[in-house]
Amino acid sequence: MSQTRHFLTLKDLSPAELQQVLHRGIELKAMQKSGVVYEPLIHKTLAMIFEKSSTRTRLSFEIGMTQLGGHALFLSPNDTQIGRGEPIEDSARVISSMADAIMIRTYEHDMVKSLAQYSSVPVINALTNDYHPCQLLADMQTFHEHRGSIQGKTVLWVGDGYNMCNSYINAAAQYDFKLRISCPEGYEPIAAMMEQHKDRVEIIRNPLEAAKGVDLIVTDVWYSMGHEEEMRKRLRDFADYQVDQEIMEQANPDALFMHCLPAHRGEEVSAEVMDGPQSVVWDEAENRLHAQKALLEFLLVKR
Ligand code: CP
Ligand code: NVA
Repeated sequence: MSQTRHFLTLKDLSPAELQQVLHRGIELKAMQKSGVVYEPLIHKTLAMIFEKSSTRTRLSFEIGMTQLGGHALFLSPNDTQIGRGEPIEDSARVISSMADAIMIRTYEHDMVKSLAQYSSVPVINALTNDYHPCQLLADMQTFHEHRGSIQGKTVLWVGDGYNMCNSYINAAAQYDFKLRISCPEGYEPIAAMMEQHKDRVEIIRNPLEAAKGVDLIVTDVWYSMGHEEEMRKRLRDFADYQVDQEIMEQANPDALFMHCLPAHRGEEVSAEVMDGPQSVVWDEAENRLHAQKALLEFLLVKR
């Protein structure tokens, strides 16, 4: 349709562009903390479609738009015609005729692709069943702030091979690191992605073995949004995959722990690790704001 740039997965930006966004996120964070007012998005509106719950994503996009001088609009399926079956192609045309960008959190990734196809303004994926690329912008910025470049490092994903794990596979390729995935059988990430990146991504079932010498350990909930009915089965299937102190001790001594949150202490992570010295989860959550401001600037401001 047009040359509009979208952010549906990390592959929509080149590695160099992702580095640019990362460093800009660090700059925007410093500016905000020292009280600099920077409002390049004055009179611009971000339409935010949420078909799943959110705390961090809504806060960070809405506050980020305000800090950049713009405005964010919360759209829920309960209160819009999207929830009553208006085709996404039609919604895309209408919303993009008024808003300057669209953010969407939903179930099917194909729905976001259709939205982007028919939108005349940038579309940002704020989580689908398959990917959560905005979280990776924050995670990569957080690693960089604490340990410098992630290039050449080894990351361990423990748990469900779902949206966050798929985005870590993309991140391994785009930020140039090695990724180990420790998941129970039946909970593997998208097979085609594993195949495409088999030079740098491998599955090691035993998390204690997989953690040896890694620089970062990441996990996520065992039952994601939409999986609540499988909770009891999943609690059994994932029982051996809690990131605890024993797993952290296999990693490099300066290894970090991350979790996109919300977390369940005593399930995917022990309280000791979650609240321990290697955990950077609060910086990671805050960096959603700074990293996404950099993304919004990248997509919306001509430089
Ligand atoms: N990590 C994350 O996306 O959090 P929310 O679901 O609260 O937005
Ligand atoms: N995998 C989780 C991430 C939440 C931010 C979910 O999809 O619910």
